[in-house]
Amino acid sequence: MMLKNMLLATVFVGAATAAQAQTKEVEMVHWWTSGGEAAALNVLKENLQKQGFTWKDNPIAGGGGTQAMTVLRARVTSGNIPTAVQMLGFDIQDWGEQGVLADLTPLATKEGWDKVVPQALQKFSKYQGKWIAAPVNVHSTNWIWANKAVMDKIGAKPPTTWEELIAVLDKAKAAGVTPLAHGGQAWQDATIFDSVVLTTGGADFYKKSMIDLDPQTLSSDTMKTVFDRMAKLRTYVDPNFSGRDWNLASAMVIKGDAALQIMGDWAKGEFVSAGKKPDTDFLCFRFPGTQGNVTFNSDQFVMFKVGTERQQAQNALASATMDPAFQSAFNVVKGSAPARTDVSDAAFDACGKKAIADLKAANEKGTLMGSMAHGHANRAAVKNAMYDVISRHFNGQLPTDQAVKELATAVRSAS
Ligand code: GAL
Repeated sequence: MMLKNMLLATVFVGAATAAQAQTKEVEMVHWWTSGGEAAALNVLKENLQKQGFTWKDNPIAGGGGTQAMTVLRARVTSGNIPTAVQMLGFDIQDWGEQGVLADLTPLATKEGWDKVVPQALQKFSKYQGKWIAAPVNVHSTNWIWANKAVMDKIGAKPPTTWEELIAVLDKAKAAGVTPLAHGGQAWQDATIFDSVVLTTGGADFYKKSMIDLDPQTLSSDTMKTVFDRMAKLRTYVDPNFSGRDWNLASAMVIKGDAALQIMGDWAKGEFVSAGKKPDTDFLCFRFPGTQGNVTFNSDQFVMFKVGTERQQAQNALASATMDPAFQSAFNVVKGSAPARTDVSDAAFDACGKKAIADLKAANEKGTLMGSMAHGHANRAAVKNAMYDVISRHFNGQLPTDQAVKELATAVRSAS
């Protein structure tokens, strides 16, 4: 209630000075701090600067965005409201529920967003039928990025099954190359977990456990196999993996210090910004056994209710975000697919074209599922409860049987 009054006060103050010049500043809170992420954001900055808007950058380091959401809560509570924020999935719904987000429906209606944004995304971009976010892209998490030269050296082809993946990792180990480049952070452990759940039990099992939170499925023997496989993957990381940022793990694969990384397609942005080419320098393929299924997450720009003098900047940002040319240019650099379904894949490389085709096919087949690790399967409380169990298990603090029990309990108490 207090928050709402403070914002209303801001609106009234804003309204009283409506005559004040519309500020032409866009302040963005986001967590795009890696080379590839920053290069993609530059596309948006330049677009807005061409329209006379100044860009005030507010990057909060920390892949996955947990730190950025903490900073945002503190800023909103203190009434220091940014123009816009990068946000994911159920976090958008949480803020929507509080009635503090700007209504983008007039702009969305004028620009026809309803016709070009897939329902799977609109589920998060809208609250009670109103547009409260502008979707920038569609990332997916069930990918592997491999160094081509290392794969050739160890005589490995892209694996298509779990067993083949383990054989590739064993070959890398035997050749003295770090098999799995990984950063020991809960969101990164959880990103791998998305794929291991999917390859072990299939789409229905993923839906039942990660989305429906079915207690039997969460504590099933199949989930035991999932945790056993996570423990197996742990045996292929290097001793210095703990706490490493995701893009530094990508750099290990780029340099050939490691064979492969299991990560969302934002990793491709790192290969691209290092001047690397698909099928020449690196290979991209779906996590073995998840072909035909996609676990997705979409970055969206959310705007809070602010004084009228800042609405022009918000609308300009939302409109620039949904511009088809921008949706192509940004996502070619970022590694993701456009949020709009009417954007050609002509400018995308082989991995980008595959991402776009896989998303379309999975959307049609009903196997396009929200990523648990990136807040598109459940609310933050449930996601964080899962993070905790997955990460303690991955770090050897929890044996598998206990992890399975604790997962079901933690989810029950968080939902
Ligand atoms: C995800 C976000 C991606 C990427 C990644 C690593 O949550 O959706 O755009 O930036 O974090 O930071």
